[in-house]
Amino acid sequence: MKTINVGIIGAGYRGVNTLAERIVDVSEETGLRVTRLCDTRSDRLEECQAYLSHLFSERGIDTDICTTEDADALICDDAVDLVMVTTPQCAHLGPAVTALESGKRVYCDKPIAHTLDDAIAILEAERRTENPMILGFTRRYEAPWRKAYELVQDGTIGDLHMMQVRDIIPFHTYFHRWHRRRAWSGDAINDKSSHHMDVFNWFAGCPAEQISGVGGRRVFVEKADAPERCLECHLECPWRVNPTRGLVKSQEELSLTGDSWMNATEEYDRVDNCVYLPGADILDHASFQIRYESGLIASLWVSFFGPKADDQETFELIGTKGRIILTRHTGILGIVTDYGASHEVIDCKKDNFGSSHFGADLELVRELKTFYDGSPPLVSASNGLEAARLIEAGLRSIDNGGELIKMSDIPTVQ
Ligand SMILES: NC(=O)c1ccc[n+]([C@@H]2O[C@H](COP(=O)([O-])OP(=O)(O)OC[C@H]3O[C@@H](n4cnc5c(N)ncnc54)[C@H](O)[C@@H]3O)[C@@H](O)[C@H]2O)c1
Repeated sequence: MKTINVGIIGAGYRGVNTLAERIVDVSEETGLRVTRLCDTRSDRLEECQAYLSHLFSERGIDTDICTTEDADALICDDAVDLVMVTTPQCAHLGPAVTALESGKRVYCDKPIAHTLDDAIAILEAERRTENPMILGFTRRYEAPWRKAYELVQDGTIGDLHMMQVRDIIPFHTYFHRWHRRRAWSGDAINDKSSHHMDVFNWFAGCPAEQISGVGGRRVFVEKADAPERCLECHLECPWRVNPTRGLVKSQEELSLTGDSWMNATEEYDRVDNCVYLPGADILDHASFQIRYESGLIASLWVSFFGPKADDQETFELIGTKGRIILTRHTGILGIVTDYGASHEVIDCKKDNFGSSHFGADLELVRELKTFYDGSPPLVSASNGLEAARLIEAGLRSIDNGGELIKMSDIPTVQ
């Protein structure tokens, strides 16, 4: 089997501690190997090089993973066939455009960018270079969401008229990390709900016409006397994170990947900024109403201070003849059809449900191989742009007191 050499730009939680790990998991099946890593943090690079070499060697695969702080050098390197951009979204544009221009295969994580301007620039580069890129909207790779889509397409619930995502999640991590400033994340709503907007667009199958939203920050409100970070704080606090463990999952991993998270000193790099530290300008909850050109309506209800629970994220679809409720953390679809006469439960959990994003990242990595071999991307840059346009319009509505925003007023790529 041909070896496909992967270069990862942004050696953090997503790039290394999720996607590179999954690449290792299916390396024999796909031929994918990580050969180059780029990050702005040299200590992160050292740790990740050691960590990934160790994971590959456990599978009997020899690797020669080189590191660089220069993204352009990684992209131009002959030892890279496929470039993965997994930096924070404020740093997607530069590497994404250079990678597209190199003619190599390109993966860019979601959200496509932190601003609509950057999203448009990436899509324009894709059109100019005629080099399609693949995106990381994980729900499109998850079995229950795909099954729900198939059922709707088959007419199981009749004509689809209403959709709702309810995502009440314990994601105070957004206030601990770089997501805490819009200048870096484009808002927590951009980071998380670009997934939800993409799901709505996917199921609607036509352009959105209008959106309105309300939201704000009620829980993670800044305090003038907040400590800088959890590491320096000894207060009892429900939001405390342990920076000495960073984002790693075991003692063995800690010895290979831990210190760079703990040693970070800048707000952008730290994973344990106090949630009350002044500077955060993102929302911690919001509600949006969307209407599509077909008349279909969608509603999104999201909070980042919700408790952990099996039903913390649900997706409900209502058609003329029935309805579907998807519960993400159980992988279960509850289906009512025939105007209420028939009730069914489908368990969509597969063997890999315990893997990251309920198995979606394994599917995504398999899809990277298919994409590398020439198939069109399962999730495209256009999907990324359409989600970004809804986020831009939704945030504009919230910032203007709930004003109704017409999507025709939101810039796009012709
Ligand atoms: N698809 C998904 O479900 C999913 C899940 C998590 C994260 N993500 C996305 O992945 C991206 C990264 O998120 P993360 O949680 O891994 O963040 P992270 O902070 O853990 O990792 C980002 C890494 O990029 C490095 N970096 C920052 N700026 C850089 C630059 N200009 N050039 C090179 N390296 C740079 C940082 O030092 C860090 O090591 C974000 O866009 C995020 O939204 C997607």
